[in-house]
Amino acid sequence: MSITLDISNVFSDRIGPHGLDRNVLNTYITALDTYNKKLIEAPYPFMELPETRFQFTEMKSFAKTIRHKGIDNIVLLGIGGSALGTETIFNALLHPFHNYDKKIRGKKPRYFIVDNIDPHKINAIIEIVKPEIDKTLLVVISKSGETPETISQFMVFKKLMKKKVSGFQEQIILITDNEKGILNKIAKKEGYRTLNVPDGVGGRFSVLTPVGLFPALIMDIPIDTIMNGAREMFICIKKNTGMDNMAFILAAILYGMDKTGKYIHVIMPYCERLSGFADWFRQLESESLGKGGYGPTPTKSMGVTDQHSQLQLYVDGPKDKCVMFFYSAQDKRLIPDSFPYLDDVSYLAGKDMKELFFAEFQGTGLSLIDAGTPNLTFEVDEINCYTLGALFSLFEMVIVYLGFLYEVNAFDQPGVEQGKIYTKAIMGKKGLETERSKIETLSSLSRTIFTF
Ligand code: PA5
Repeated sequence: MSITLDISNVFSDRIGPHGLDRNVLNTYITALDTYNKKLIEAPYPFMELPETRFQFTEMKSFAKTIRHKGIDNIVLLGIGGSALGTETIFNALLHPFHNYDKKIRGKKPRYFIVDNIDPHKINAIIEIVKPEIDKTLLVVISKSGETPETISQFMVFKKLMKKKVSGFQEQIILITDNEKGILNKIAKKEGYRTLNVPDGVGGRFSVLTPVGLFPALIMDIPIDTIMNGAREMFICIKKNTGMDNMAFILAAILYGMDKTGKYIHVIMPYCERLSGFADWFRQLESESLGKGGYGPTPTKSMGVTDQHSQLQLYVDGPKDKCVMFFYSAQDKRLIPDSFPYLDDVSYLAGKDMKELFFAEFQGTGLSLIDAGTPNLTFEVDEINCYTLGALFSLFEMVIVYLGFLYEVNAFDQPGVEQGKIYTKAIMGKKGLETERSKIETLSSLSRTIFTF
């Protein structure tokens, strides 16, 4: 199992004036070396998770009870960092059409990750799970235990469950901080089982806690193997220095790109199973680094799909982007000679779809090189629990190093919290009168609108 990073196409000696100067990169890496020594002495709590395996015993015991009960659906209530880790794991490790057919998923439950409050989606999920609500498990996930989206989802689904299921408390599990927040009050009052988000681990860094791992366990995903991959990657990052440290290199390149005007980071997996990972990293990078008027703008494109949507812009548009490819293709599908009378398609006949996929990936890279757009590639020989765990810890560490280079606190999200406060004020929460009057003043201003 291997993860290979190829950075050849980010340097100016390869791609011209929009590339990076190797000496500048070395300066950042030297700074990271010094910083890393201090970090190893006083690691952030998320870095210790692969060793401590927080609440593994409790998670395994809950999952066993649930399996005995025979659960057919799992509804995951949560948003942002409380949903994206699970989406990433399921996208990478479950069948892409898991929910569609019992033959595909076997005894595993269907899953519904709500991650929004649009009533259109909520109603659609209710429509599906309502007839089987007695066989449905609700997992409510919120680090703060206060997020209005998650609390409102919980209010809706609790009512549904309470109405139809006696002993419904057995079918609800809350994952939250170990003492703070409304969800804890609710759990104590109503007697729900709880799992926790460890102290000092924020939403977007919580995938390797019960937040991401408990739902995985319900799907029989071997979470110990995910943690083994994460642990090995942490060990490598801790022991390697300079250009031998993959996390330093990546952080230094992404930072260097931003400093030379390539502040848009395009995450482009040629691998359907890393589509969720791209979403996860986009959130991690945006919320951690977008601060004080600075920060890169991560965006996602899927290979090959978005070759026919965004590639023109990446090749020929403004030189404000660098592209981070992920390539992994395990499966094969022969392209048969279905039109033997057509010379024009004979170049495809008898080849494998995987070969075409690789050619498309290479073709995209080459057109970016021609255009002088910096790009780098991660090649993962196999997407599995181990490599996924390793990718999680690698990219979490990259963000820590980028936080150091940008000189920002990578662990807070004041912009998100402000949005939550305004939402609560608009909805009439007590104690937020100042925010409410600010909103009223804004609403009373004249508006420029057009109506069709
Ligand atoms: O990464 C973060 O901290 C955020 O994206 C949160 O995960 C998101 O706002 C949800 O917060 P909570 O888990 O407290 O409900």
